[in-house]
Formats: sequence, C-alpha cells, structure tokens
Amino acid sequence: MPDMESNETKKLATLWEVSQALSGTLNLKHSLHRVLEILELRHGMFRSTVTLLQADSDLYIEASNGITDEGQQARYRLGEGVTGRVVESGRPIVVPQVSREPMLLNRAAQRKGLKEELTYICVPIVIGRKTVGALGVDLRFKRDRDYDRSVKFLRVIASMMGQAVRVERLVEAETQRLVAENIHLREELRERYDFSNMVGSGGGMRQVYEQIAQVAGTNTSVLIRGESGTGKELIAHAIHYNSPRAKKPFVKVSCAALPDTLIESELFGYEKGAFTGAQSRKLGRFELAEGGTLFLDEIGDLNLTTQVKLLRVIQEREFERLGSTETIKIKVRLITATNKDLEKAIAAGTFREDLYYRLNVFTIFVPPLRERKSDVMALADYFLEKYTKEHSKNIRRISTPAIDMLMSYHWPGNVRELENAMERAVLICDGNVVHAHHLPPTLQTAEASGTVVKVSLTDAIASYEKDLIQDALKTTRGNCSKAARLLSATERVLNYKVKKYAIDCGRFRK
Ligand SMILES: Nc1ncnc2c1ncn2[C@@H]1O[C@H](COP(=O)(O)OP(=O)(O)OP(=O)(O)O)[C@@H](O)[C@H]1O
Ligand SMILES: [Mg+2]
Repeated sequence: MPDMESNETKKLATLWEVSQALSGTLNLKHSLHRVLEILELRHGMFRSTVTLLQADSDLYIEASNGITDEGQQARYRLGEGVTGRVVESGRPIVVPQVSREPMLLNRAAQRKGLKEELTYICVPIVIGRKTVGALGVDLRFKRDRDYDRSVKFLRVIASMMGQAVRVERLVEAETQRLVAENIHLREELRERYDFSNMVGSGGGMRQVYEQIAQVAGTNTSVLIRGESGTGKELIAHAIHYNSPRAKKPFVKVSCAALPDTLIESELFGYEKGAFTGAQSRKLGRFELAEGGTLFLDEIGDLNLTTQVKLLRVIQEREFERLGSTETIKIKVRLITATNKDLEKAIAAGTFREDLYYRLNVFTIFVPPLRERKSDVMALADYFLEKYTKEHSKNIRRISTPAIDMLMSYHWPGNVRELENAMERAVLICDGNVVHAHHLPPTLQTAEASGTVVKVSLTDAIASYEKDLIQDALKTTRGNCSKAARLLSATERVLNYKVKKYAIDCGRFRK
C-alpha cells in the first residue's frame, strides 16, 4: 500500500502546481503549456495536447507538449477521430494500446513507426455543462495501469483548465466591451466637439471657424483669447477633435484653479519621495497628454517660476519629473487660453515676454457676445432645446417680450451667462412658453435702464402683464378682440393696456 500512498501524494503535489500555473498569469496559452510540462515531468505524460472548440464545429490545438510545429497546426471537426468524439460526447476515451486503434488519426502526434506500445487517454474540458475542448495525453503502455484512476486524475486537471478558459473568455469579452465602449465614447466626444456643433456664425465667429479649420491639422501652438464665457474651451476641444491627434488624449489644466505649489507637480509629475507626502510616482499632465493635446487654461494666471519651466518644455520638448534626473521627451500639442490682457501683464512684469512669443504663434480672438447680437437667439434656442430635453420639459418657444429682453441685454458673462439664463428659465417655466419673467432679474431691468436695479412688485407685474398681452397678440396675429377673449378680458381693458405698455399691434399682423 505505501506505493499507492506516495502515488496519491504525488498527484496532490501536481494539482497544487497546476493550480499555481493556471492562476499565475492571464496568458492562457502559456499557462496551459506549463500544465502539460508538469504532467510530463511528474507523470511521464510525454506527449499531450489541449484542444479547444472554435465556432462550435472546429477543434484546434491551443497548447501542446512534445508535438512538432507541423502537428500543432492539426485541425479536427467535431465528432472526428478520438478527440472529436470526446468533445462531441463529453465523455472520456481511453485507448489502452494505440497500435490496435484504427480510430486514432495521428494528425497531431506522429506515432507511426514507433516500436514502443503507447496508451492514449483523452478527457473533455467542460465549462458549466458545455464541452469546450479536450485534454489528450500519451503514456507508455503498462499492462497493470489503473485506467480508471488515470482518467479521474486527468478530469480534475481538465476541469481546472476549463476554469482558466472561462476566466480568459470573460476577460476577453469584457475587454471587447470596453474597447467598443471606448470607440463609442470617442465618437460621442468627437461629435460633441465637432465645431459644426458650435452655434452661431455672427460677428467674427465665421473667422474663428476658419481659423480652427486652418490650424487643426497642424502641430502649431494656439493661443485662444477672449472674455470669460465666450467659448474658449469649446474651441480648444474643436481644434483637438478635428486634428490628427483626435484619438489621443485631450488633457486640460486650469492654471488658475491650482495653487502655485501644486501646479508644477500637476504639470510635470513627481517621483516617489520627491517631497514629504509623495507616496508614489505620479505622472504629470504633460505625460498624460502624450501624443495628444495639452490645454492650459487661464495661462495668464501662471506664476513666474512655472512660466520659466514651461518655456523650457516648449523649447526643448523635454522635461524631468520632480525629484528625478531622467529626461522625458514629449510630443504634445499645446493650446493655451486666457481672458487676461497679456500685453499689460508683460508690461507689469507678471508674464514673461519670451513665453508670450512662444505661445502666441497662432492666436484666435473670440468676440464677446454683445458684438455678435445675431447669435443671441440662435444660442438661446439651442440652450432652450438642450435644457428642455435635459429636464424633460415641454417648452416650445420664447415669448416676444422675452426675446426683446435677451436681445437688448449686453451679456457681460457672454455665452455662459446666456446658457445659465436659459437653464434657469427652463427650470422655473411652468407652461410651454418662456416668458420675460422667467429670465433672471438682471435682464428685467436692463431693458429699461441698461443697469442693474432691484425690481419692484409693480414693475414685475407690469412686465408679466405686458408679456401675456404680447403673447396673446402674437397668437391672434395682432387681432385685439380675439386677444381679449383669449385673456378673458374686455376689448376696452385690452386696448387701454396696449396703449399703456406702448405695444405695437402692427408688429404681429405679418
Ligand atoms: N458657440 C457656442 N455654441 C454653443 N455653446 C457655446 C458656444 N460658446 C460657448 N458655449 C458654451 O458656453 C459655456 C462657456 O464656454 P467656455 O467654457 O468655453 O468659455 P471660456 O471662454 O472658456 O470661459 P472662461 O474664460 O470663463 O473659462 C460652455 O458651456 C460652452 O459649452
Ligand atoms: Mg474656460
């Protein structure tokens, strides 16, 4: 009996080694091959194959040991030869004496002409209830071999292989899903920042689009200038997503948002231990943007020390992480933006002139919204639709008084202010028309005086009343008696109010 016991111990040791081999790596082919080597080393299974099912009908060799390169190319069909039958039936087959078995195809293992008698055992590899392949091994023929035990042992090995195959397929499917998702997201981003999605072409905007188209395909540094909220960031995106770098990262750093002490580690990264608290290596934004575009927003707020470092990166196209001497080369396109007067900053000594010339290779000036009044309504409609959808409302249009108000306002906060005004209007609007009183108070009084004053209750009500009347007149195409009926008022009262608010009925007759 001691012989039997040492045999069992050996098998347990093998199982442990096999489980290590299969869990140690994500490369399935490699780990299966390792298992076959273990089977040879420990149990004299000097020739073996792992065959897997492909497209539910073909079998190919995923891993093998002791098989020629040519043999590894062997293919079987389901049900064909011993391996094909094992996979088809899900049952093991034992061929005690290979020389007497005509069913063996000898396609992978060239056994012909061998003097020594061999035994072939083939067991199915199963995932769940489905047979996905087979493990086949050659052993030297021994008259007293306990085939039953050998089959049981190999079935345990095969089930461990099945688990490894399952894990690999899950990972593969997940990877494919992630790749597909990534492509989809890229496409979505590209669409979002395709500059045909930028609304408005009034004032100098047409020139801005032409400049984006001109510069997108190049590697030139671009400086975008314009007041706050004019759409500088949107333009930076448009340049990136219309450039050959579109598939590479777009990385943004807001120079104003980061304190001076952090900006350098953010831009250039650091090595573990570069300073107290640097627990591990951190990649800087320059490295993260490799091959793509780095967008430095509010560049006018960058401190002088960092300006020097940035200048060097632009000139030499290389830098070092903080606490490192290793020089890193980079191929990054730089886009910068600011709403500051850089020339003034240079005169005041807060912005380096040499850096200014490096950044200012190609400049795009974005005109303020008040200089492109014709874009106001296009943008207002665009944001109305956007936020109506986002907040699941049913708002169809903007009332005439509200339009007048939007048009006469000077928009110091530019497109951003307009966007916020429209989102607010959508949120508080209870019907399907945006009225003047849905717009922010800054606009209510601006129409009359152009300045910001507190609104009185009387004024607000008057404005609302005027709004309702104009709206009714619009619906009835300037017909006062119909408008009066719509508002459940008498014609006399309506005429009085029309005069009081100086409403021009003729305007609605067209
Ligand atoms: N032409 C446009 N079409 C559609 N949306 C726009 C347009 N211009 C600006 N916007 C929107 O207005 C908002 C402000 O734009 P953005 O953030 O690009 O301004 P900015 O110039 O970077 O301002 P700041 O200097 O304050 O950072 C964003 O939500 C942007 O999507
Ligand atoms: Mg910005």
